[in-house]
Amino acid sequence: MLRRSPFFYKVFLLLLLVCGVFSPFSAVAASKNFLKAFSSYKSSLTTIFPNDSVIPNSVFEGACQFPKGKIKSVKESLEKAFGHIIVSQKTVENIFKAVKYLSEFRSHFFNNNESIYVYNRPGFFAFDFQVYIDGTVFIHLGEKDPKKAHGGFKEFSRSLRLEDNKLFGSLRFSLSDKNKVEDLKEELKIMRAMEKVPHNLGFDYFGIYEVSSTDKEKYYEGIFQTELYQSTLEKYTITKTSIKDLMTLLLQAAKAVENFHKKGYAHMDIKQDNFLVNSFGMGKYNLTLADYGLSEKASLTPTINSLLGTRAYKDPYFCELERIDTQHKLGFGDKKNADIFSLGMVFYGMMFYNHELKDLNLRLNVEARTKFKGFYETHCDEIDLEKLIKLERKWIEERNEGIAKNYIAYSKAHAIFLKKIEQHKKNSDIMYNSTPEELKKLILKMISPIPEERPSVRRVIHVLTGFMKRL
Ligand SMILES: Nc1ncnc2c1ncn2[C@@H]1O[C@H](COP(=O)(O)OP(=O)(O)O)[C@@H](O)[C@H]1O
Ligand SMILES: [Mg+2]
Repeated sequence: MLRRSPFFYKVFLLLLLVCGVFSPFSAVAASKNFLKAFSSYKSSLTTIFPNDSVIPNSVFEGACQFPKGKIKSVKESLEKAFGHIIVSQKTVENIFKAVKYLSEFRSHFFNNNESIYVYNRPGFFAFDFQVYIDGTVFIHLGEKDPKKAHGGFKEFSRSLRLEDNKLFGSLRFSLSDKNKVEDLKEELKIMRAMEKVPHNLGFDYFGIYEVSSTDKEKYYEGIFQTELYQSTLEKYTITKTSIKDLMTLLLQAAKAVENFHKKGYAHMDIKQDNFLVNSFGMGKYNLTLADYGLSEKASLTPTINSLLGTRAYKDPYFCELERIDTQHKLGFGDKKNADIFSLGMVFYGMMFYNHELKDLNLRLNVEARTKFKGFYETHCDEIDLEKLIKLERKWIEERNEGIAKNYIAYSKAHAIFLKKIEQHKKNSDIMYNSTPEELKKLILKMISPIPEERPSVRRVIHVLTGFMKRL
């Protein structure tokens, strides 16, 4: 996905010939402004190395002058990260040779504020690598990484920092339109604000680069490196993890959300996938909240209901509002409250056997998500405008009925769950029985269909801390 189109290469080579100089790496204003916002960072405009002629093949001939021990340690670190794959010594040596060549000749080809992205070159070196402006080199495990993952927007894989063989998480994203550039800028700004905030994620390096161009448009991609975590919270559930360990994770997750809110942001996409976890054994964990792609600032003007986010975790009351009061604007308080709901759904997914409420909320959100989804496809042949308006109205009525029905179904099921728990009925079918009753109730309150009934995140932390002391 990071490859430039063949058309680009042709244009690129042509430019070289016409201009006689090696300067096609001009960035558009958008990316320059983007970088300005992060000028205090080891951030940079990254230049892709598109053609083999820039590093001549002769660079790879001749004996290797780098310490054997260092080459070996990089080779072994890569092999360890891959699990089984053998990494050839030649690949590592050639990366060292290429890096040396680039550091000697970079001023011939690049501006000082440009980092360099080099594609793997089959037959010479098997990995993409990147040289930041401060000289830091990352070898990207990329597509071959057995731990590669993706969310709705970014692609994750690991990268090895050459100086100390330390692995980092690398996140790539495509910036095909202007809005995405703005979204990413906002996300990185939040990450920067979260840098020293416990249980929240900052970033260490980032680059943005042009991947393909046409006469009218340029396409960019970006990559940033962050601290690496072993897994997401998805892995930790009542069926596999002890109550004590789960409680440690729940508490850290609640603190993460509290800290995030205190910084003046609502997350809007809280779910297991967006919590990252390192486990050190003996019940010791470090958890962080990540992915600020949908996060919103407190100072943002209240917005009319927005149904973006992950459906099963999204506040069902937002759907109901969308139905009963289409003009209702959601402020920071509403959004923080929605985060508590999502956090409650995370806890519910981890601590309950029976996931009926999650399924019902998913159904409700699917119903509510897009007002006209499928409508115009269904009625694309209709040319009578009046008829179309009538059909539209009917379509919305049906959708609203669906929302109302699903909201009631969720509320009913929620009330039944809560009653069962309050009456201390035997409920091993829905909940692990050694879980304290008060915790079951707390989680159920967090996922109440009525926002006012949900506890504050402070209250959640208070109750969880109490349990921890008793365990
Ligand atoms: N620092 C990291 N360490 C380990 N895994 C990560 C890290 N960052 C992201 N991931 C993995 O990549 C996935 C996608 O990252 P995320 O930031 O949530 O992107 P998206 O905006 O696409 O959802 C995460 O759900 C997780 O599995
Ligand atoms: Mg995500």
